[in-house]
Amino acid sequence: METVHTLADLQKYVSKIKAQNKTIGLVPTMGALHAGHLSLVQSAVNENDVCVVSIFVNPTQFNSPEDLKKYPRTLERDAALLEKAGCHLIFNPLTEDVYSKKDLKKTFEFDFGGLDTMMEGAFRPGHFNGVVQIVSKLFALIQPDRAYFGEKDFQQLAIIHRMVKLMNFEVQIVDCPIVREPGGLAMSSRNERLSPEERNIAANIFNILNENANFAPGKSPRALAESIACKINKVSGLRVEYVEIVEQKTLKIAENWENPAVVCVAVFCGKVRLIDNLKIDVQ
Ligand code: PAJ
Repeated sequence: METVHTLADLQKYVSKIKAQNKTIGLVPTMGALHAGHLSLVQSAVNENDVCVVSIFVNPTQFNSPEDLKKYPRTLERDAALLEKAGCHLIFNPLTEDVYSKKDLKKTFEFDFGGLDTMMEGAFRPGHFNGVVQIVSKLFALIQPDRAYFGEKDFQQLAIIHRMVKLMNFEVQIVDCPIVREPGGLAMSSRNERLSPEERNIAANIFNILNENANFAPGKSPRALAESIACKINKVSGLRVEYVEIVEQKTLKIAENWENPAVVCVAVFCGKVRLIDNLKIDVQ
């Protein structure tokens, strides 16, 4: 496995692979890797000749400088995990190599066609512009055949699909299922900030979704979302930011059960903000 930090070294590597007609699978990450990330890497290794993992804590998608500063950076540990997983290249650039000063000052603007006005988009203004800004750069630089994203970030995934369509990137986006802790909590780099007691409390989020997010023809999606929010708020130590039931494709609030839906939640456990979602089978 190799690690490159500069754009020039990355371009050299990509040109070499392309000249050999080999396929590239890309897994974009911000590091602090866990089994969720590694499941994406495993798929990329299995389905492509070469697996590239980018590790870059992208400043333009953070809402608060404090959050950006606190984001865990564990490159050595990540590299050891990636080597074991069969990754071929880590791309770990410096911020000033990826972004000009102007890039960092002026917000990138992208037409999300309404996918960004609620849920994460509403609570984290500018966040998805930053995500699209970095992912579009990674696609242009690495020219992957396939790129792997987790359903853990359901709204991000919908936005990436839209970006690929709008910008005509020749890359296949592979949706990967959520990897959970044995107790059900969705794996996340933020879980590191939970105390052992908080981890147990946070496991209630998935358990409540799992027990309640069922197709209920006699109940509207809105009523179901409200009752799930109530149940989560009743757990001492959890505070709901939003619970929304949306259509899987459009992310529009589901008004009825006509289309496949997904329940998406953001919940504070102490000071840590967690997101999760569960698809609802509509029969
Ligand atoms: P990051 O939070 O590091 O996540 C990298 C990828 O891992 C994302 O596609 C995310 O959905 C996936 N992932 C995280 N936890 C997962 C889990 N428990 N199960 C399955 N997949 C999981 O998402 C980002 O970074 C950034 O926004 C990025 C796309 C890299 C752009 O900066």
